[in-house]
Amino acid sequence: MEVVDSVEQMRAARRSLGESVGVVLTMGALHEGHLALVREARADHTRVIATVFVNPTQFADGEDFSQYPRTLERDLDMLRDAGVDLVFTPTPAMMYLPDHQTTVEVGAAAEGLEGERRPGHFKGVTTVVAKLFNLTQPTTAYFGQKDAQQVVVLRRMVRDLNFPLQLAVIPTYREADGLAMSSRNVYLSSEQRIGAAALSRALLAAQWVYDEGVRDPAVLRGAAMMALESCGGEIEYIAVNDPRTLAPVLAARQAPLLLSLVVRYGTTRLLDNCLLPGDLNIRAGLTATLGA
Ligand code: PAF
Repeated sequence: MEVVDSVEQMRAARRSLGESVGVVLTMGALHEGHLALVREARADHTRVIATVFVNPTQFADGEDFSQYPRTLERDLDMLRDAGVDLVFTPTPAMMYLPDHQTTVEVGAAAEGLEGERRPGHFKGVTTVVAKLFNLTQPTTAYFGQKDAQQVVVLRRMVRDLNFPLQLAVIPTYREADGLAMSSRNVYLSSEQRIGAAALSRALLAAQWVYDEGVRDPAVLRGAAMMALESCGGEIEYIAVNDPRTLAPVLAARQAPLLLSLVVRYGTTRLLDNCLLPGDLNIRAGLTATLGA
């Protein structure tokens, strides 16, 4: 496995990889969820690139940029074991020249949900992902379902700016009790960690109600809310949106729905989501509905 940390080395290394390349973009602190993305990329493509870059521009004011877990040596071992060919590990100074002045910003899809609560977050994501796509030139980029809004925003960017690649969306990888894997789970106390299992139970509760024929978004949110009563955190939102546009869904409808929720434990925000109907929560369903 080759590890490069400059833009010039990245470009040179990419030239020798050929046509069939899968990319997994990460901020490091890797867990099984990231490795699941690498496995899919490995199965689909001759070569796999991973990037490890804690992108400062996607952290809103007061967020955890300086505390974000950084475990590069361990990350590299995990990527090597998973069969990655090339890893790009730039520094912020390499990615953002002191006089840089170009950003990429998506409109409506980036404005609600996380966009509303984390001002500037998606502008930071789309700008860095556009740069990383240009440098890695993948055939397919792999993203996790957990950050569903990120995928929808990136799909818009890929379509609007004609990036020649596919976005594959891989189901959320979960701990045994259902908690979605996240690099931020390490911030939870043991009590909060037990309560956090309620997030996935809330998604299942909404799915059961949906399977009973309920389509009213208020009733679906209510089912999730009841299951979250034991979570021990502060419920920030439970939302039902159109999975393609992210417009809020206010009345019953038959088309697929995206149910998202965020629970806050102190300063740690945990996200989770599912598509309804529940049988869409597999790679093919997620990619067709959220990806491109
Ligand atoms: O999902 C993430 O880890 C980040 O937002 C990404 C896509 C690597 C961009 O920094």
